Amino acid sequence: MRTTTARAHPNIALVKYWGKADEDLILPAAGSLSLTLDQFPTTTTVAPAPSAELDVLELDGRPADAGQTARISDFLDHVRTLAGRDERVIVRSRNSVPTGAGLASSASGFAALATAAAAAFDLDLSPRDLSRLARLGSGSACRSIAEGVAVWHAGDDASSFAEPVDAPDMRMIIVTVDRARKAVSSREAMRATAATSPFYSGWVSSTEDYLRQMLVACRAGDFTRIGEITESHALRMHGLIQSTVPPIRFLNPTSHAIFDAVAEAREQGIEAYSTADAGPNVAVIVRPSDAGALAGRLTAFGDVRVVGPGPGAHLCTEEGAAVPAAAVDAAAPVAVPASEPASEGGRA
Ligand code: PMV
Repeated sequence: MRTTTARAHPNIALVKYWGKADEDLILPAAGSLSLTLDQFPTTTTVAPAPSAELDVLELDGRPADAGQTARISDFLDHVRTLAGRDERVIVRSRNSVPTGAGLASSASGFAALATAAAAAFDLDLSPRDLSRLARLGSGSACRSIAEGVAVWHAGDDASSFAEPVDAPDMRMIIVTVDRARKAVSSREAMRATAATSPFYSGWVSSTEDYLRQMLVACRAGDFTRIGEITESHALRMHGLIQSTVPPIRFLNPTSHAIFDAVAEAREQGIEAYSTADAGPNVAVIVRPSDAGALAGRLTAFGDVRVVGPGPGAHLCTEEGAAVPAAAVDAAAPVAVPASEPASEGGRA
C-alpha cells in the first residue's frame, strides 16, 4: 500500500439521472450525459493506517461523523475486495464545492476517492473500471472520472460506466443562489420518486429517447439542440420530482427567475439554456463567445462562476507517488465556508 492523492471535478448533467434500476450496484434506470467542470475540485488523500481498526475520515480538516465515515468505509470495502486486502486507511478530503447544495460534490468526492483509493491499494484499473468503481460510491461520480462531456451508460455492473463523448466547446455559468444543505438528499428523493410518482415510467423511457437525441446532437456539434434538450430535460426532472408523494421541490423562486432571464436573453440573441440538479442553484450552458455577457446579466441572482469543460479524475503526482498530507493541505484549493456542514462524502 502507498499514500496517494487524487483530484476530481464535479459534473453537471445535461441529460439527468434520476432513478435506479439497482440500489446496491447503483445502476441507473436510464443513461445520462454530463459536463465535467474545470472548477470546484475535490482533492483526496488516502493513506495506510496499519494500526487502525476502522477507517478514519477527515472532511475539510474536520473529523467526519459516524454516518459519513460509514458511507466511505462501505465504499472502501469494494476497493479492498477488488484488491484482496484488508488494511484500514485514513482519508483526508477537501471540497471546494458548497456541499449538499445540488452542486455535485458527491460526484467529485467519490471520483477523487475511487481514484486515490484504487492507486493506494495498488489496483491498476482502466478508466472504464475506475468509472464502475466510482459509481458504487455515488452514481453521478462515475461521470467525473471522464473529462468534458461524458455519457453514463445504463446496463449491468459490467456495462454501466461513463466515457467521454465528442461535443462542441461550451461554457457553463453556475449561479449559486443558496449554499445551504438541502432538506432531502438526492438518494432519498430519487427513491421516493420511483416509488410514488405516476409519471416515473414515462420519465425513464423519455430519458432514453432524449439521450439518443443528445448523443446525435453532440456528435453533430449542434449547440442549439444540445441546449434545447438540456433545458427541457431539466424541467421534466423537476416536474417529475414535484410529482413525488409527498411532493419534493428543489427549485425556488430565484431559480425560476433565472430560467426566465435566460429565456429572455435567448429572445435577444444570446443563445443559452438552463438546468438545475437537486437543489436551487442553476447552471446555464452558453457558447464561449457569449459567456461573459450573460454572466454579467446573471449576477443579479447570486454568485456567478463561468466554468468550462474540465479534466477527468486524476492522481496528483506522477504514478501516484506518496504525497505528505501537509503538502496536500497546502495545495488544496478550499472555498468552503467554516459554517458549512461537512458533506457525507459530497452531495448527499
Ligand atoms: O449521484 P447522485 O446520487 O448524487 O444523484 C445525482 C442526481 C442529479 O444530480 C439530480 C442528476 C444527475 O444526473 O447528476
